[in-house]
This record gives sequence, structure tokens and C-alpha cells, in this order.
Amino acid sequence: MKRGKRLPVHVAIIMDGNGRWAQKRGLPRIAGHRAGMEAVRRVVEACPDLGIKYLTLFAFSTENWRRPPAEVTALMGFIGEYLEREMPSLMKNRVRFSTIGFIDEMPGYAREKIAWAKEKTASNDGLFLNVAVNYGGRREIVEAAKRIAKKVKSGVLDPDDIDETAFAAELETAGLPDPDLLIRTSGEMRVSNFLLWQIAYSEVYISPVFWPDFRKEHLEAAIQEYLRRDRRFGAVDLEPGETEGEESESQTVPRYT
Ligand code: IPE
Ligand code: IPE
Ligand code: MG
Repeated sequence: MKRGKRLPVHVAIIMDGNGRWAQKRGLPRIAGHRAGMEAVRRVVEACPDLGIKYLTLFAFSTENWRRPPAEVTALMGFIGEYLEREMPSLMKNRVRFSTIGFIDEMPGYAREKIAWAKEKTASNDGLFLNVAVNYGGRREIVEAAKRIAKKVKSGVLDPDDIDETAFAAELETAGLPDPDLLIRTSGEMRVSNFLLWQIAYSEVYISPVFWPDFRKEHLEAAIQEYLRRDRRFGAVDLEPGETEGEESESQTVPRYT
């Protein structure tokens, strides 16, 4: 790994291409999702070595309910299956599991496993693994706006005190630093309603690899590319690797209370 530049603290990944991976092999789409769970395990295990402290994975979007019911059901089941199977490894690696998204609307069996995994890993101090399930960026922003409106209505918040910090504190990601690096696999060049607010200054990296084939070397390639980027945050004349990483982190100091 190239030295002298700041590694990304928070990496967010749009895990895409499971269906096409399966199709290429003449398998059902669901087989692609199952293989995708292996890629999740590999990437989670690779993060500590690469200095990544926060990993956000897009597992299911608010739009993915439009898929055939059998695929939706399989995906919901895989979330719990992954958590149960990987728990020994998550504990061993001190991974703290968390989610963003509208968990209350998920089937009970998925909700229960999620709550169990959160509780079990709550005091772990290793990688912060944040999984986006039933997550949509626009809805997240609307819900935040609603909560702010309620605070104003009840008199606990003055409209003049609404600023970016106050708004970000109402998002699902409250307390997390913004992603430094956003990766999307399978070559698709779109954001698909992921972390719309939070990726304002994230570096974007598109990998041609289908998610089930994604491994540590691909993550390393993304980080190498990130280290070659010059993050200016709208300013000019920053020396490569100077203070931009520190600034982005200090703006969003993690709070987990
Ligand atoms: C990503 O793979 C997983 C989810 C969206 C749940 P896809 O299922 O979108 O795979 P493609 O894009 O159809 O190949
Ligand atoms: C985005 O992938 C959602 C997840 C990876 C969970 P999609 O496959 O659903 O996105 P589109 O439909 O190609 O934009
Ligand atoms: Mg897709």
C-alpha cells in the first residue's frame, strides 16, 4: 500500500451484479445473492488490514421490493443467515454490526436477527459494519425533514438553528463520518438512491467486477486509486495528502451514544 496519504476511513459499497453473475453461469439469480454473501465475508475480513474503520454495504434498497416476491423473500432470509453464520467470525474480529434503513418494515425473522446481531456486537471496538437494508436516500432525507418539522412545531427547535450539522444529525447515519470512498461493482455508473446526502464529497470508484467475484485485491485496487485522487473539497492548492482527510473526519466526529 502506498504510504504518505490518508487511507479512507469510511468505505461505502453498492454491491451490484449478483444476478448477472448467476445468469452468466446459467444459475438462478438467488444463487448469485448466496455467492454475494461470500464476498461480504471476504471484504469484512479484509477491512482491518486496509485501515478501513467503517464499512457501509448496500444490501437492499427501498426500490428492491419491486423484484419478484421469491427473490425478495430469499434476500430477507439471507440477511439473517449471514448474521447467524458469521457471528463467530464477527465476534473474533470485534466487528460492530449496525444498520441504516427502515428496519421496522422488514419481515419479523429478519428484524429479529438484526436486533440480535446488534445487541451481541454492541461493545465490539473493531470494524463498524453498517448494512443498508430497506434503505433509500430520498426517503431518509424526507424522514429527517419530518423530524425537524416536528421539533420546530413543538417549539424545541428554532428554524434559524437548522444547519447542515443539525440536519445530518436526523439522518440514519447520524454519528458516522461521511464515506471517503464509494465503490459500485458490476460497472453500473449510477448511485441508485444510496447515501444521497452523505456522498457529497466521496470519491467514486466503479469496479467492472460482479459483486460475487469481488475480493480483497479489488478493494485494494479501489484504495490505490483513491490514494491517487486529489480531494479538494472545493478549495485550491492543497498539496497531495495534506490536510483534507483530517478535515473531512473532524467535521463528522463519530458519536455513538
Ligand atoms: C445486487 O445484485 C444485490 C441487490 C440489489 C440486492 P443485483 O441483484 O442487483 O444483480 P444484477 O444487477 O441484477 O446483476
Ligand atoms: C442498488 O442496486 C441496490 C443494492 C445494491 C442493494 P440495484 O441493482 O437495485 O440498482 P439499479 O436498479 O440497477 O439501479
Ligand atoms: Mg443490480
